[in-house]
Amino acid sequence: MGQVNSSVPMEQNKSDQSFKQGIWIKHYCSSHKILLVGEGDFSFSACLEFLKKNYEKAMSNIDSLRSRGCKVIHEVDATKMLGYHGLNYVTYDRIVYNFPHAGFSQNEPAKDQVRRNQDLVSEFMANAAKMIEKSGEIHISHKCNGFFQQWGLQKLGEKNGLVLIEEVEFKLSDYPGYNTKYGYGGDKNFDCNPSKTYKFRLKDALYN
Ligand SMILES: C[S@@+](CC[C@H](N)C(=O)[O-])C[C@H]1O[C@@H](n2cnc3c(N)ncnc32)[C@H](O)[C@@H]1O
Repeated sequence: MGQVNSSVPMEQNKSDQSFKQGIWIKHYCSSHKILLVGEGDFSFSACLEFLKKNYEKAMSNIDSLRSRGCKVIHEVDATKMLGYHGLNYVTYDRIVYNFPHAGFSQNEPAKDQVRRNQDLVSEFMANAAKMIEKSGEIHISHKCNGFFQQWGLQKLGEKNGLVLIEEVEFKLSDYPGYNTKYGYGGDKNFDCNPSKTYKFRLKDALYN
């Protein structure tokens, strides 16, 4: 099971005014400092940078991200990323984990699978909550039917001091070039419909 993880900070400019002036792709602005974790084939990261640079072609997503000044780090555990030396205690405007999944285990009862996935998301949230700017947002895109609904993202957020501020339908077509990857056992894409992007903020920042 490969856990490829990435950190992709983009250039930042802190004020809300400057966010308005940047180039936006759905929820993300070229002036945000963004940390993306649990990337599959890096096509989501590449999509954000790709549009920003006017549809320029690149040999591979990682090479293209690096050549544009993004930092790409492998083998970072999203549940232990706080204090990871390569991330240098930076705080981010957006921390994004698209389609978290803890992997498959044969014949595992459904309730144990749910619990393992909840642990992954909860520990990711606990770390992200300490790495996000006060006004920042933590985004998790996630399937919103059946087994996936049972993970209870909103409650996991509350347990980690986060408040769900918005849930928005996730449309793959908003991110040209992005392929949603299983992450385990090859290069296959998975069907991400129906999905939502769940946006969280720090409870303390909202109510204090
Ligand atoms: C369903 S795949 C989604 C991949 C990618 N984000 C996408 O949208 O195509 C789940 C990803 O989570 C990663 N993952 C699982 N546990 C992780 C952990 N503790 N830290 C970082 N990544 C993890 C897997 O390696 C896999 O790439």
